[in-house]
Amino acid sequence: MSKIIIKNQEQIEGIRKSSKLAGEVLKYIAQYVKEGVNTEYLDNKIEEFIRDHNAIPAPLNYHGFPKSSCISLNEVVCHGIPSSKTILKPGDILNIDVTTILDGYFGDTSNMFTVGEISDKAKKLIKATKHCLNLGIEQVKPENRFGNIGFVIARYAHSKGYSVVYEFCGHGVGIEFHEEPQVDHIARKNTGEKMKPGMIFTIEPMINIGRAKVNINQEDGWTATTIDNKLSAQFEHTILVTNNGYEILTDVSDEY
Ligand code: MF3
Ligand code: CO
Ligand code: CO
Repeated sequence: MSKIIIKNQEQIEGIRKSSKLAGEVLKYIAQYVKEGVNTEYLDNKIEEFIRDHNAIPAPLNYHGFPKSSCISLNEVVCHGIPSSKTILKPGDILNIDVTTILDGYFGDTSNMFTVGEISDKAKKLIKATKHCLNLGIEQVKPENRFGNIGFVIARYAHSKGYSVVYEFCGHGVGIEFHEEPQVDHIARKNTGEKMKPGMIFTIEPMINIGRAKVNINQEDGWTATTIDNKLSAQFEHTILVTNNGYEILTDVSDEY
């Protein structure tokens, strides 16, 4: 028996609202991302915006995570802990990952941001990673298998000479922060369960310039960096399987 929750209309509406708010948080924070700003300040702005919208930041105290968002710079793959000591400087690339709980429903999304002029290799990595997410999203439709998401993502990433992080995955989301299934970003064609209308999950590829392997910081228990300290990028959306394809619940780009 599949443990993947098929959401009902009421749940879909709730998750749609929360996801939209998470997307709006990323829009809102963009104005504050600049040289000299520390990532704890960004986290405080994120928490304030979320609470002002009657929602809760899901990361805070999640398995002991100490902050309201994940902010991951340069060689940090994911789960970067916002800190007053992490100060943005020209050339930095960073992922800001926001998960909201609104009326009990979860929405999860992340974007890349840049500080000042960044290198060509960073620009190319970010562009390719965004394309990986879009290719994955195009695979979302009823009766397609989850493995095809990871298949197309890895095929494209490898064609550009990049590696795909395999130790962190996308996930079912909505009623809980992390639900079944695990959505692999590198997988074999036509493997895994079939997608069904009403399933909601994230796709969140982490793509590396160097090796795929990550290292978790032993002191804080969270910060995941590339083993070779080369750059990593990530984008994430929360996706609903519809009757004939998908709806990107965290996409707010058409509203501005
Ligand atoms: N938002 C992350 C994800 O995409 C999870 C962060 S867990 C935390 O799944 F505890 F670090 F916040
Ligand atoms: Co996620
Ligand atoms: Co996330």
